[in-house]
Formats: sequence, structure tokens, C-alpha cells
Amino acid sequence: MRELDSVFKTNRKVVCVQGLGFVGSAMSVAIASARNEENEPVYNVIGIDVPGEAGFRKASSINDGVFPFENSDKKLEMKLKEAASIGNLKATTDKEYFAYADVVVVDINLDVKYDDNGAPYLDLTLFKDAMRTIGSHIKENALVLVETTVPPGTCQRVVKPIIREEFRKRGLPGEPHIAHSYERVMPGENYLDSIISYWRVYSGIDDESAEMCRSFLESVIKTDEYPLTRLKNTNSTETAKVLENSYRATTIAFMEEWGRFAEAVDVDLFEVVDAIRMRPTHSNMRQPGFGVGGYCLTKDPYFAMLASRELFNRNDLEFPFSTMAVRLNNRMPIVSVDYIERFLGGLENKKILLLGVSYRQDVGDTRYSPSEIFAREVIRRGGIMSYQDPLVSNWAEMGIIVNKDIPSFEDFDAVVFAVQHKEYSDIDFSGIHTAKKLLIFDSNRVLKDNQIDAIKNNESLIFKSIGRGTEL
Ligand SMILES: NC(=O)c1ccc[n+]([C@@H]2O[C@H](COP(=O)([O-])OP(=O)(O)OC[C@H]3O[C@@H](n4cnc5c(N)ncnc54)[C@H](O)[C@@H]3O)[C@@H](O)[C@H]2O)c1
Repeated sequence: MRELDSVFKTNRKVVCVQGLGFVGSAMSVAIASARNEENEPVYNVIGIDVPGEAGFRKASSINDGVFPFENSDKKLEMKLKEAASIGNLKATTDKEYFAYADVVVVDINLDVKYDDNGAPYLDLTLFKDAMRTIGSHIKENALVLVETTVPPGTCQRVVKPIIREEFRKRGLPGEPHIAHSYERVMPGENYLDSIISYWRVYSGIDDESAEMCRSFLESVIKTDEYPLTRLKNTNSTETAKVLENSYRATTIAFMEEWGRFAEAVDVDLFEVVDAIRMRPTHSNMRQPGFGVGGYCLTKDPYFAMLASRELFNRNDLEFPFSTMAVRLNNRMPIVSVDYIERFLGGLENKKILLLGVSYRQDVGDTRYSPSEIFAREVIRRGGIMSYQDPLVSNWAEMGIIVNKDIPSFEDFDAVVFAVQHKEYSDIDFSGIHTAKKLLIFDSNRVLKDNQIDAIKNNESLIFKSIGRGTEL
């Protein structure tokens, strides 16, 4: 057994966060910054990732007081530095530390896998291993709070039996305390506040677990302003998360056909949507765009279907909207490729500059980014790609280094705006002069009206877009 005194100087309740990714790293900081009524730290936090280069790098970075991902939230950086100086947040790849936990927060990934035909399937091997690790180390009365997005049924049918089995192997007679409360964290400028100043849904495997979960969440989250909602059981909260994201993915996918229609008939769909949004019942109508990326909306719509089949043995349940949403969202970047190919009269040897490679504005996360689908397709059709993103230096999925500075546009056949990064609203198009006409393609409502006017008034440039009715 490790000597915890050598890690933390003060005796506080211990929270272990399993998984130091985009969620777990930020959640570790959120928990370490929890304060009691005397304004003293409530918890000692141990972030635990898997051994290996990536896990070690994340843990070392946190121990150095530096957030392990590109980050634009100053408050998060400040709170991490504060935790490092107080000494109530440590990170490690040593799973033995789970033994100290009063609460374990599970923030690991659970990926959807795809077979050779592109059909999604569930492989719970790594997730089950992670639950076994917890069950084989924790104290009998510790709370396991699952925040990972999981197929509905997972806490009851996977987490509980595994931890219980591990308890029995250790001669522990008790029932594990398990709760589920999903994350709505949003990396970006308000990364930390999207955890501590936001509404939460929670449930427990039994009443005692639910109460333990409520008490823990109340100590970390500003629940006076953002009240908690308790649901009946863990199946319900797991369903809430995947329904929430499936709904969003589906309403975005729904706009794809309207974007194409708008282009064909010279309608500015943004103007149309803004007008419709005046109706309170339609105020969150989505817009056409470049596509949907990120780790969550690209997989979560499959989880209800996969849970039905693989956890509830119900092959009769179908999810046509949710599955079609993922397919359509993946197709969206190809729509942009098709337009650009048409406007340029082919893509062979055409030089395309892509502005924005992360999956959304103001984040450096490139997982399942629509820019990747776009870039691979342009390359497949013979085009030559260049990239820029203010928040990405190493685009791991493509294996390339990305420029942080916006290059001069003169050398390109097309400049494609893919992500609404703030920096792009400062670009002045009036002074650009090119030998041949340069296509400026706004695929995601990135450019402001005055920028579009400047492009239209510049004889070197031609403006086209998704959704503004510029095709004709
Ligand atoms: N990224 C988001 O914005 C977001 C928002 C809401 C919910 N979620 C959900 O939160 C979960 C985590 O997402 P993420 O973006 O942080 O993923 P991530 O891939 O960035 O991080 C997961 C981390 O868990 C680690 N890990 C995996 N197995 C482990 C184990 N056995 N022990 C210790 N560490 C382990 C991985 O090494 C990795 O560092 C997912 O279910 C995701 O769907 C993510």
C-alpha cells in the first residue's frame, strides 16, 4: 500500500478520477477547487490514467500545474495552478491509489467500434477492465460515480456485477455504491464553469448511492443556482444522456437537406432560420454547416440501439432517425467538397487552404472532426491540402503539424472556412490581390456580413457558401 501522507499533507476526503482526458482532467480541477463554508479545500484529488506514454504525459502535466490539452479557459488554468500550490490535486498512472478513494469518478472513454461494413458494434472489454480495476481496489463503502457516456443499462448490468464480483473475491460482503451522473462539460472559454455552474442529472443504483451522489455533487457544483435533477434509476440517466445527444445530432442532420435546397434556390437559410427562431417554440433551431464532429455526437446516437441489442437482447427495436443522423452528419463535409469541386472545375492539383481543423470553435480537440473527412476526400480527388488552426499544432488523426498563423491567400485556388474560431472575424479581405480568382468558401457561417461585402467588392475574390444561397 502506498503511503498517502507522502502525497497529500492534509487529511481530507479522497476523490479518485479515473481517466485524465478532456473530461477527467477538467473534472479533477473542479473537484480540487471545491471549498467548504470556511473556504477550505474539501477534497484531495488523485487523477489516475493508464500507464503508457500518453497517460504519463497527462499525469505529469497536471502535476506541473499545466492543463494537458490546448485550452482557452483562463479560470481553469488558474484553478489548476492553485490546486498545484495547495497540493490537493495529484495525478498518476498507478491504480493502487484507488484504495484510498471515498469517491471514484469514472471519466474514461467508451468508444463505439465499427466493423468492415461500417456497422457500429459494442466492445466493452476495456470498460469492463476499468470497472474490475476499481472493484479490486476500492473500499467497500466508497461511491463509484460513473460519468462516462454509456449504453443505457450499463451501470445495472455491467458495472454493478463486476464490482460486486471483485468485492466477493476480496471477501467483502457489502453491495457496491454506484451512481450515474453524466457530463455536459463544454471545452472552450467556459470549460470549468460548464462543470461547476451547470445543471446536472443523477441517479443511484439504490437510494443510498443516489444520496451519496447528491451529497458529492452538491459539494462540487453550484447546485443552489443550478439545481440537480434526480431520475428514477441509472437506466434513466444513461438514457437521458444519449437521448440528449441523439436529439442534437438529429436536429443538426435535419438541416443538411435544407442547406442544399437553399443553395439551389438562392435562399439565405441563416436569414430564414433567424426569422423562425423568433418563435419561442423554435428558438433553438439548428443551422446548416460543415458537419458534426467531436467524440460525443458522432457516437452517442448509436448507444440506445446497441444497448437494446447487446444489453437487453431486443433486436426488434429500431432507431432510424438516430442512425441516419450520424450518417448524414458524416456526409456534410462531402457536400462542401462537391461544391468546391464544381466551382473550381475539378480538384486535381488544386490548392485548398482549410481554416479550422478542430471539431468546433475555440477548442483544440480534433477527434472525429469534419475537417478530417473533408481533407481526406479532397486529397482522394487529387487536391493539395494546407491547414491552419489557432488552437491545434499537432493534428494527431492526420499525423501532421498545423500552422497557427494564417498564411497569405495568394497561392491558393480556394480558402475554406470550416470552424468559427474568433480569429477569423478579424480577417480583412479588402486588401487581398491575386493573379487568378480565388474562391472563398464559407462552409459554416464563419464570416461576418461586412467581410462578405468586402469579398464581393474585391475583384480578385469570389464568395460561395453553405446555406447562404450563393450557388447560383
Ligand atoms: N469531451 C467532451 O466534451 C465530453 C462531454 C461530455 C461527455 N463526454 C463523455 O465523457 C467520457 C470521457 O470523454 P473524454 O473526452 O474525456 O475522453 P478522452 O478519450 O479524452 O479521455 C479518456 C481518458 O480515459 C483514460 N482511460 C481509459 N481507460 C482507462 C482506465 N482503465 N484507467 C484509467 N484511465 C483510463 C484514457 O487514457 C484517456 O486519457 C466519454 O464517455 C465522453 O463521451 C465527453
